[in-house]
Amino acid sequence: MEAIKGRRSIRKYKPDPVPEEALRTVLEAVRWSPSWGNTQCWEVVVVKDLKVKSELATALPNTNPAISSMTDAPLVLVLCGQKGISGYYKGQARTVKGDWLMFDIGLAMQNLCLAAYMLGLGTVIVGMFDHKKVEGILNVPQNVEVVAMTPLGYPAAEGGTPKRKEFSEFVHHEKYGGEKI
Ligand SMILES: Cc1cc2nc3c(=O)[nH]c(=O)nc-3n(C[C@H](O)[C@H](O)[C@H](O)COP(=O)(O)O)c2cc1C
Repeated sequence: MEAIKGRRSIRKYKPDPVPEEALRTVLEAVRWSPSWGNTQCWEVVVVKDLKVKSELATALPNTNPAISSMTDAPLVLVLCGQKGISGYYKGQARTVKGDWLMFDIGLAMQNLCLAAYMLGLGTVIVGMFDHKKVEGILNVPQNVEVVAMTPLGYPAAEGGTPKRKEFSEFVHHEKYGGEKI
């Protein structure tokens, strides 16, 4: 609960490098994530080169508050998923939801963020950008799609804690909309 409640989106980073061992631990957190039928559709692109980080930043709209963190942080991790694997059996989607790629990559990203927090490292999940542009910059193949990115580095500043909904606003009892008996 400490990690779940203490982790914050970090948008200001120190330039200090991330030790290789810490990067390995963060990738290990992705590796041990749950996934549909253990399909493990994740692919992670580790970006260190300032030139590539700067190119990635151009895919974010100017209004994205994470834009400067893309180049300030020593690393950017880009989480991608192989299409048509998660939620499928013999090429057929098993549920009305179709591809569960977004779900599985979301779980992997949360594991990554919590592991990073445990190591004193900051992350911010970045989802608002031109995905096609990023796929082009990183040479992502057709059968894979980019889902989200995060800078990774030591926090220079922490933002506030955005408020959360109360239980009464999202917990339902017995049936949707049901009150506690
Ligand atoms: C799927 C997803 C996409 C997000 N995209 C962005 C983004 O593009 N830019 C940004 O600054 N923050 C982004 N965030 C971070 C959220 O704004 C942040 O998690 C939320 O405000 C709660 O704050 P906290 O993470 O500090 O608890 C995203 C978060 C999620 C889960």
